[in-house]
Amino acid sequence: MKYIELELTLSSLEICSEVLQSDLCDIGFDSFLDKADGFFAYCREDVFNQEALNVLLGNFKANNPHICVSTKFKEIEQQDWNSEWEKSYKAVLVEEFCYVRAGFHPEMPEVKYNILISPKMSFGTAHHPTTYQIIQFLKDEQVYGKDVMDMGTGTGVLAILCKKKGAQMVDAWDNDEWAFENAKENALNNNADINVRLSDASNLNKDYDLFIANINRNILLQDMALYAKHLRTNGVLLLSGFYDSDVDALTQMAKANNLVLIDHISKESWAALRFIKK
Ligand SMILES: C[S@@+](CC[C@H](N)C(=O)[O-])C[C@H]1O[C@@H](n2cnc3c(N)ncnc32)[C@H](O)[C@@H]1O
Repeated sequence: MKYIELELTLSSLEICSEVLQSDLCDIGFDSFLDKADGFFAYCREDVFNQEALNVLLGNFKANNPHICVSTKFKEIEQQDWNSEWEKSYKAVLVEEFCYVRAGFHPEMPEVKYNILISPKMSFGTAHHPTTYQIIQFLKDEQVYGKDVMDMGTGTGVLAILCKKKGAQMVDAWDNDEWAFENAKENALNNNADINVRLSDASNLNKDYDLFIANINRNILLQDMALYAKHLRTNGVLLLSGFYDSDVDALTQMAKANNLVLIDHISKESWAALRFIKK
């Protein structure tokens, strides 16, 4: 059986890989392999439909004009996709403090926090700098006994880490059905008692000591006032999901909401910010 290998290179990964892969599944692509700037997608040659692919990519480009997409095609023989994927999928160790792994990676007992993540179609495996940065912040953050919100929880990785660090109560919300299901599964696999909910900031109804949001510039700007409103005095807000060039806009919005910038980290042009509510 021959397969078509489609190599997709994207100028921004944000959440577009997941969106595109889900759309490609609908037109017959059945396996995916991530690469640094995009992914490979595989489709059986007899199922491959060039016209459907053109329509899909045309729609994606129209909906995401800021993202450049380039494609390359190759015909290849069938492979054992699972083992190929497992070979390319590495666990992530964040500063000897937190180890984020899939089920086929052995545990690292010498690392205090081992988190088992079944990545599926959700964001949050710590491979992306934005997740990595929040885990870096959480290393030094006082979490024990705190009430925590992880808005845009994705796989639930950050919420699970907070619970493992002794948070009293952790809410983990995401407005995406895939993420909602995946976060529940990951919470169960890690014995983490967190409250996963399919929701966005419009349903916030209680206050937190620590509020985390790794989403994107526009949602963070739009919802910052709600985050601040539901953060207790001296509570901490951790934000990521945006570029260094967005830091000024986010910091100004934070200032207008009584949030004082305390820390700023940057990794591969992605920024993460730590604020305290006055
Ligand atoms: C960049 S991922 C972060 C995932 C995970 N928290 C991490 O740090 O790896 C952003 C997540 O936010 C979710 N999201 C996007 N807009 C949202 C909104 N308005 N409210 C809640 N979740 C949202 C997406 O579905 C996605 O799972």
